[in-house]
Amino acid sequence: MNKLTTLFCGFLFTFVLAWIGLVLVPQFQFGQLQPFVNEDTGESFPPMRSGLAETGKQVYQANGCIYCHSQQIRPEHQTADMARGWGARRSVARDYIYDRPHLLGTMRTGPDLSNAGVRLSNEAWHHEHLYAPQSKSAGSTMPPFRYLYKVQKIQGAGSPDALKLEADDAPPEGYEVVPTPDARALVAYLLSLNQNYSLPEAKLSTE
Ligand code: HEC
Repeated sequence: MNKLTTLFCGFLFTFVLAWIGLVLVPQFQFGQLQPFVNEDTGESFPPMRSGLAETGKQVYQANGCIYCHSQQIRPEHQTADMARGWGARRSVARDYIYDRPHLLGTMRTGPDLSNAGVRLSNEAWHHEHLYAPQSKSAGSTMPPFRYLYKVQKIQGAGSPDALKLEADDAPPEGYEVVPTPDARALVAYLLSLNQNYSLPEAKLSTE
């Protein structure tokens, strides 16, 4: 064998090995995963997201939330994720079967959001936090996402969706801040983030 053939075989071997390890084996392990159906209640897990929440996922992606937030609870014996109150059980592959792409993330400048909808279930809280993070969490380094909101003149009794803002965050007298459709979708997505259900491979510790 001349050197070129040896080199070629070396490259081929490396790529084939990587493909087997990174594509083929995971496909065998996880490719056939189906939702888990609870036979007693007929409920299917993970739950499907509403259309609005699916749109919100795109807003989440477009705004780079993933650069500071993960969506994966790691096992108790490895990390303090559960002790921090981020989840009641570890995340497993089945939790993400409807996610294309999944948004596991690697950075945790902010808290993990796998269960944001359980931990923080108040819609108004999310809007006010997105508009003015420091008003909800003193010293927060999360950037405000004010362009997802509209400042408008108050008409009549005002909008029922107007954000309740205080001090420097409040709009000028006679004006109100309301969510745009993108902000509504994003918050619907955040409220849908919930891994608080039992799967055969990852039971809730209460069971
Ligand atoms: C530069 C980093 C950064 C980016 C980008 C970012 N966040 Fe945050 N986020 C944080 C930090 C830090 C906190 C913790 C302090 C706080 O609550 O504001 C936080 C907190 C949160 C919380 C409250 C979580 C909890 O358990 O208290 C939610 C919900 C949230 N962020 C959603 C988002 C969404 C949605 C986006 C994208 C639109 C986003 N974040 C983008 C850094 C970031």
